[in-house]
Amino acid sequence: MAVARKIHEFMEQGSWIRKMFEEGIALKQQFGEDNVFDLSLGNPIMEPPPQFFEELRRIANSSETGMHRYMPNAGYPDARAAVAAGLAQETGMSFTGDHVVLTCGAGGALNVIMKTLLDPGDEVVIFAPYFVEYMFYADNQGGTCRVAPTDENWLPDLDALATAITPKTSIVLVNSPNNPTGVVYSAEILAGIGEVIRAKEAEFGTEISLVSDEPYRKLLFDGAEYPQIFPHHPRSIVATSHSKDLALPGERIGMIAVSPDYPDGEDVVDGLTFCNRTLGFVNAPALMQHIIGRLQDVTIDVGEYESSRDFLYSALTDIGYSVVRPDGAFYMFPRSPIEDDVAFVDQLKQHRVLVVPGAGFGMPGHFRISFCVSEATLQGSLEGFRQAFNATSD
Ligand SMILES: Cc1ncc(COP(=O)(O)O)c(C=O)c1O
Repeated sequence: MAVARKIHEFMEQGSWIRKMFEEGIALKQQFGEDNVFDLSLGNPIMEPPPQFFEELRRIANSSETGMHRYMPNAGYPDARAAVAAGLAQETGMSFTGDHVVLTCGAGGALNVIMKTLLDPGDEVVIFAPYFVEYMFYADNQGGTCRVAPTDENWLPDLDALATAITPKTSIVLVNSPNNPTGVVYSAEILAGIGEVIRAKEAEFGTEISLVSDEPYRKLLFDGAEYPQIFPHHPRSIVATSHSKDLALPGERIGMIAVSPDYPDGEDVVDGLTFCNRTLGFVNAPALMQHIIGRLQDVTIDVGEYESSRDFLYSALTDIGYSVVRPDGAFYMFPRSPIEDDVAFVDQLKQHRVLVVPGAGFGMPGHFRISFCVSEATLQGSLEGFRQAFNATSD
């Protein structure tokens, strides 16, 4: 067997979204593209904003030499400084380019962070439901994940967090706005997480980093401001990207920001830069670095996602679904009307509606809807949601 047993097992565990994707293709071939309502993927259907294309043209027409060569592994100093300037303005903290490492997306950023911080066997505490890749990223870098539960609103349970932290915990990983629930962690919750971490650091004599995975940071609804993690723990690190806020997931441009208050932060940035190199990323794509430094104030039209949230939330709750109203991102995580989420997702599929079972996010009994789809797809899905729900009470 060429593929390692562990990878075979991981492929099975992490296959839900791909499975729905493949089933979607088969259904579309059978019923036609317009008659299948695919709400399974987190791939934004929006195009990047016009400013992105202006910058792309500017770069394409530039005759500056060396623009496509290797650069320092952390990225071009001007691009890092531009990211830092935005963070300094937003947080009031003294960020400079030296606190920023540019990466291949948030996924690349998380791998680099884990590689830098984890000793073999170290633990990463994550909250369920979770983005399933965390398990694989931790394994890539020699660690394991320990899962802490959340409450009925998908917010961290601080007592459970305290129980989940052990002497082997190196990272507590949060994700807000959250995939798959769309909930946003308030400043109070982040402050509570910081307090628990420091109490545990004191109890065990260890150092624990609070890592925030925030590719949906700018996708916030109702005019809300983003609660930053930096004020809540000195050892805090952000991993993010422009995959969602500039609709550039295929371009693989992301970044890491280390708190200016991080003890020995310079050493950490050196470690991150080294791991960006030795993991084989080498550096974030040069072309994107030239562009995103000038787009730090630009975001896709979040209003479109907010309208979709409003439309879908009200339609689903009218039908009778129980769902926590998302405050950001483009996901919803309703309760399955029957206990077996996989069976219910199958029923939805009979009505040509594709979603992902909660089992794929470590939280059976629910399912994830991704509403970054066209209005027609959203509207078209409602009849299927209604019929599948009603069939459960027959
Ligand atoms: C919670 C979460 N983290 C990280 C990522 C990875 O994003 P990127 O495309 O920036 O690697 C995603 C992508 O969907 C995500 O949902």
